[in-house]
Amino acid sequence: MEKRQELYAGKAKSVYTTDDPDRLVLQFRDDTSAFDGKKKEALARKGMVNNIFNAFIMERLEDAGVPTHFEQRLSDTESLVKKMDMIPVECVVRNIAAGGLVKRLGVEEGSELTPPTFELFLKNDDKGDPMINESLAETFGWATSEQLAQMKTLTYKVNEILKALFAHGGLLLVDYKLEFGLFKGEVILGDEFSPDGCRLWDADTREKLDKDRFRQGLGGVIEAYEEVGRRIGIEFPA
Ligand code: C5P
Repeated sequence: MEKRQELYAGKAKSVYTTDDPDRLVLQFRDDTSAFDGKKKEALARKGMVNNIFNAFIMERLEDAGVPTHFEQRLSDTESLVKKMDMIPVECVVRNIAAGGLVKRLGVEEGSELTPPTFELFLKNDDKGDPMINESLAETFGWATSEQLAQMKTLTYKVNEILKALFAHGGLLLVDYKLEFGLFKGEVILGDEFSPDGCRLWDADTREKLDKDRFRQGLGGVIEAYEEVGRRIGIEFPA
């Protein structure tokens, strides 16, 4: 497999074509952003930590029967993935109230959500990723009702698998965002799963160990990501 030209540079990852038309290389960069790109900083080791973290999680999800775009880790900061047609809809599940839900509805941060909530957002930076629903997604052609049903089922399945995985490490999976795409007509999980796209709290102290450390200027961002990784059995290079 040969890496060719840059296809697209996102806020934290760059995507490259390869000599295989069905495969892409994801390069995880140190760039970190929040608030739709308004807060930006390069954090040393982040690309490596998120690439290794994501590879570990994607492999666990595949083992548990969730189809993903992940193929293999190529280096500390690069992974090979299937080339998909992305569905421009973000799926968010929440087990505990935090972030956008607290802001929107005024519920208390930390309250348990039973059953967990499921929300859809349009992936559109210029519009600030507005909240949408299934009707809007179907009408505007972002996803079919069948695809939306599969995305919802897979997003909840990921919750069961990862809640248990993180619980073993003394961590609460508060919420997370997933993105899906189509590969040969099948809905599969894309993008990444790392502490950049989820909230993880220490189960005893409720200390925040995810990107909220960056959003809220708490410091120790990558140290927290590595701590989470170590607790679930990931070893990072020195
Ligand atoms: O901001 P909000 O509370 O709606 O985010 C819910 C979850 O989805 C958080 O874990 C957040 O990190 C993630 N998210 C994301 N990318 C977005 C929006 C939310 O990773 N564009």
